[in-house]
Amino acid sequence: MSARDRCRALLAAALSIGAIVAASVTATAEEGYPSRPISLVVPFAAGGPTDTIARIIAPPMAKALGRPITIANIPGGGGTTGITEASRAKPDGYTIMVGHMGTHGAAPALFRTLKYDPARTFDPIGVAAGTPVVIVARKDFPAADLHGFIEALQTKGSTYNQAHAGVGSVSHSTGMLFDAIANARPTFVVYRGTGPAMNDLISGQVDFLTDQIVNVVPHLQAGTIRAYAIATPERSPALPSVPTTREAGLPNFEVSAWNAVFAPKNLPKDVHAKLVDALDKALDDPTVRERLLKLGGRIPEGGERGPAALQKLVESEVARWTPALRAAVDSE
Ligand code: MLT
Repeated sequence: MSARDRCRALLAAALSIGAIVAASVTATAEEGYPSRPISLVVPFAAGGPTDTIARIIAPPMAKALGRPITIANIPGGGGTTGITEASRAKPDGYTIMVGHMGTHGAAPALFRTLKYDPARTFDPIGVAAGTPVVIVARKDFPAADLHGFIEALQTKGSTYNQAHAGVGSVSHSTGMLFDAIANARPTFVVYRGTGPAMNDLISGQVDFLTDQIVNVVPHLQAGTIRAYAIATPERSPALPSVPTTREAGLPNFEVSAWNAVFAPKNLPKDVHAKLVDALDKALDDPTVRERLLKLGGRIPEGGERGPAALQKLVESEVARWTPALRAAVDSE
């Protein structure tokens, strides 16, 4: 073989090796999950707590999975519209969703015809964050503390407007409970998420709401709204000057919300494992931890993480909220 022929043969061999490598890369990209962007459904308007948490965890999850994650806001029905829609997507890992204490805990008590069962219709991926509930009011609400606030609500009744994010949402269910315990009858004003509700609280269109901590911390720090109490046994390090409901004289109002990632039921096992691992990595990401902690979010650790912990949480939340909310509805 001449030197020229040898060179040609070597080149042909090199090219065919290249073709095999290229073919196998293509095959992996096509067959292996994920090979295209993933849609993360947020069942509320942009700018609220669910959206905030989704946007904090999405980038590190995307990094772990090697594909972009895009946020799809599908508001309506207190979060049940987006969750219903996402639950009907193909269970291939390309549509996942952020649910919460409302969509997967309170909603069954308040919707007779809920199109999903929080404990059966989904493959749980994991809890993303615990989100204590804070009673917040417009900056100039004329009450110095929780006692005065409740007195004002009891005296002036329906002249005060209470914002919430739709029937079954966290702000609605915890708001109903608060009203029942405080013996208050304000007028409800419904939003497509507490992001837009917060804008109206800041500008004084509405008087108050019970909201998840991650949505209130920046505004309390900016001094554009006021807080009367946090509904947890201990104060939050993110809001050290806000008293607990116990300290402020309303010990029966202790509620804690949470946000979590779910997928439509029957994901392939390897896809499920990859999503669980991506969320786990996101929760260990120092930037995620710092952002969540600054906003008062609680990061699940150890046994609080993952699908089994989330499944247990959903079952216990449905059991916890159903009697409490039915009693609150009956007292209206
Ligand atoms: C709720 O009240 O359920 C949430 O705050 C809604 C939201 O995330 O916007």
